[in-house]
Amino acid sequence: MTDSSKQNKPARAICRTSGEGGYALEKCTEPCSIVIFGATGDLTARKLMPALFDLHRNGGLPERFSIVGCGRSKLSDEAFRKKMAAALSDAGSDDSDQVRSFLEGVFYRQTVYDDESDVGRLADSLEKIDRQRKTGGNRLFYLALPPKMYAPAARSLGKAGLAREKDRWARLVVEKPFGWDLDSAMSLDRSLHRDFKEHQVYRIDHYLAKETVQNVLMFRFANAIFEPVWNRRYIEAVRVTAVEDLGVGHRAGYYEHSGVVRDMFQNHMMQLLSLTAMEPPPVFDAERVRDEKVKVYRSLRPFAVDALSDHLVLGQYTSGRVDGESVPSYRQEKDVDPESITPTYAKMKIFIDNWRWQRVPFYLESGKRLAEKRTEIVIDFKPVPHSMFRRILGDTIPPNRLRMGIYPEERISLRFQAKTPGAQVDLRSVNMDFHYQMNAEEPLLSAYARVLLDCMLGDQTLFWRQDSVEACWSFLTPILNACEQCGDPGALLHLYPAGSDGPEAAKGL
Ligand code: BG6
Repeated sequence: MTDSSKQNKPARAICRTSGEGGYALEKCTEPCSIVIFGATGDLTARKLMPALFDLHRNGGLPERFSIVGCGRSKLSDEAFRKKMAAALSDAGSDDSDQVRSFLEGVFYRQTVYDDESDVGRLADSLEKIDRQRKTGGNRLFYLALPPKMYAPAARSLGKAGLAREKDRWARLVVEKPFGWDLDSAMSLDRSLHRDFKEHQVYRIDHYLAKETVQNVLMFRFANAIFEPVWNRRYIEAVRVTAVEDLGVGHRAGYYEHSGVVRDMFQNHMMQLLSLTAMEPPPVFDAERVRDEKVKVYRSLRPFAVDALSDHLVLGQYTSGRVDGESVPSYRQEKDVDPESITPTYAKMKIFIDNWRWQRVPFYLESGKRLAEKRTEIVIDFKPVPHSMFRRILGDTIPPNRLRMGIYPEERISLRFQAKTPGAQVDLRSVNMDFHYQMNAEEPLLSAYARVLLDCMLGDQTLFWRQDSVEACWSFLTPILNACEQCGDPGALLHLYPAGSDGPEAAKGL
């Protein structure tokens, strides 16, 4: 496939002032401080700092920025910079001049997040850093903390006056899980809103920041030929899959209480579903896009609680082999209850009760310790209504299939039938492929770089809005209740060997 996209591009702001390359952005980021609560943790070292450095290197950070790491440990600025330099080097960033200029903007303040006087002292410190780095007082507070700390941390920020916006902005970033169920999600929201307004709260879903996920809307709504067939008349079924070969690793403490439904469905799977199913918004703007998504969630047909097994298969992995290595069962993992009933796999068949999607099943499948890591959205079209080739070829002509690969292959592939070359009258299935990174001119943004950039730009399109969070919790509540009670493997919870394709029962769904 060739790429002729260069012709009609509107001019973009090139924010980079030195060096070559970099991101071409629609607008430039304003001077600001990025304040990370939980700065000595894993997320900061593995994801946030490498992403911020990438932004710095490619002109996505403003010229005048500061990054203020906050943590409970006592550390000097220098010691923290050293730690972060090591984290950047682990992430493969070894351009020493760039790293040095980046680290000049990095600071550390020891802070007890729920201690008002401590956060008050932080506020004074931030004023000084603002003056030193000329960042103008705009601040992004990133809570890289355990979720139970979100509410107290936000409260202390509020009490210290750090949520106030007057001639400056203050934004709060939280990551999933947004609550534990509907009630706790609503209660968390009330807590955050004591000090922050909705436009200040950024609820991250890193799936939305994946380039190929963002491309779903472009693909659907920037082409005239797909939309007319994107409905119940032409589509037989939609499959949204995000399976992994990894187990719970060192996160069992969290996962044991969360399980696959909270970990993957309440957030990523629901986002993939809404991007596939939503109506076109009038404009590509945060509120209009999110209005359309919430309509999808509100149209989800509630699960029939008395016939859950017709729509749902839950699973948990037993020991097995992955990539030629023996791996333990979920129940043998460190920090997991040996009698745990936490599901590590789920497949759901769900329906969207609206005009476009009536009677089209959406199969959502996600799980850990499966045969491979694969994330994709597959649209299965209906078979041809009548086969004029049936005398020669029999009745089975494989239907068209559109595959939007998100991982490992970032590609869109359309299967159709063509004549097999040669004297015989024969058909073969062929694919028309588009590889997403083909002819990419700019450095690609990692998911975390994308969300951090959007937070600085004040663009909420790729973030969850609370009404959608609540609609999804309401929809999933019957399943969560079932998970919590699905004691006997065999009823709803099916065991599957690690390295397999999941429970046998899922095939019959
Ligand atoms: C996270 C989940 O949100 O997404 C993990 O907590 C999961 O359990 C991960 O492994 C998958 O993300 P990705 O980007 O690797 O598909």
